[in-house]
Amino acid sequence: MKIAVVKEIEAGERRVALVPESCKRLVQGGIQVTVESGAGDPAFFPDDLYRQTGAGVESDVPGLLASADLVLKVQPPAFNSTLKRHEVEMMREGAMLLGTLLPARHPDMVAKLAARKISAFATDQIPRISRAQSMDTLSSMANIAGYKAVLIAANELPRYFPMLMTAAGTVFPARVFVIGAGVAGLQAIATARRLGATVEATDTRPVVKEQVESLGARFAGVETAESAEDTSGYATELSTDFYRKQADLIAERCAAADVVITTALIGGIKAPKLITADMVRAMKPGSVIVDLAAEAGGNCELTQSGKTVVEHGIAICGPLNLPAQMPWHASTLYSRNLTSFVLAFWKDGRFHLDLEDEIIRGALVTHQGR
Ligand code: NAI
Repeated sequence: MKIAVVKEIEAGERRVALVPESCKRLVQGGIQVTVESGAGDPAFFPDDLYRQTGAGVESDVPGLLASADLVLKVQPPAFNSTLKRHEVEMMREGAMLLGTLLPARHPDMVAKLAARKISAFATDQIPRISRAQSMDTLSSMANIAGYKAVLIAANELPRYFPMLMTAAGTVFPARVFVIGAGVAGLQAIATARRLGATVEATDTRPVVKEQVESLGARFAGVETAESAEDTSGYATELSTDFYRKQADLIAERCAAADVVITTALIGGIKAPKLITADMVRAMKPGSVIVDLAAEAGGNCELTQSGKTVVEHGIAICGPLNLPAQMPWHASTLYSRNLTSFVLAFWKDGRFHLDLEDEIIRGALVTHQGR
């Protein structure tokens, strides 16, 4: 089997789908790997490191894509404006593709994949079961986003995070409030704690209370008998009565916080609007909101995707693609996730596209023209 990795073409994307460490594992497993020359440069993996693993390095992108049995990507395939061709159209008919494809956001790309009879696996559709944990790109990348969100907040904040005893008197720790304690939220809590802040967090899923507390933060939740998560562990939509009660809690905590970090998603896709313009107005001037749900529309009414805006003296940051800002580790972890997927189905010298397998069934977006 031939695997191809091309340089990501999306603006601002600095990750690469495979790093040399993973190439080595795949090559040792008997898989041929070829990487576009310079694909790893933005993440600080030069061509030479790939060559040392036994991988090939190639400059001819159309040739590379046309000869691959499996193409690995970070971003969904797109139109390459330099080559004036869509990445999918450069792939061999019937080949396989693995990456974060976000099919619901890219229906045109899905149609192209089907037309080209590509067997496309979306890592974002892999069921979040124990066996698939090592393949979970959503978790790896959310972890980075949670960490970076705190660094952005610390940079914006006109105050210290930690408590300090100085000759000029005592500095009290910053108060951080985290909304949504999933993978990103838990990492944000841990990072804010490491910087010395006092942290409080809320989530609709009561099961996270223990995880929040184990990181040294306080949990603030709304008592309810409603079921807050589906069978895969994702948050579900709750009643208006619940959200009304939650709004009171959020308004009160935001007013007292120096930093608010929001990460809430429903079903892993939809961002509920949890911080209203009025709540922002009631916050202390100089406070910071980092809205990690910006990509999905934002948890705060005033968030503008990809921008930092200042409203009523509050900085509201809506950063996009934070993992691309930490490309070395983001690529390394992403690459390990993809490698884990490939090797799980690589047996006896071939890739077993087993439609009975729960992971394959979940991840497969297009296959044989459907
Ligand atoms: P996510 O990115 O879909 O959502 C982030 C967080 O927002 C979640 O914790 C959710 O409960 C919370 N949320 C939704 N509505 C909210 C609201 N109104 N107020 C406050 N919080 C709200 O979730 P993520 O981080 O991708 O993972 C969700 C869960 O999936 C995990 O906590 C875990 O249980 C499960 N999971 C399982 C894995 C596995 O077994 N392989 C791997 C990763 C996650």
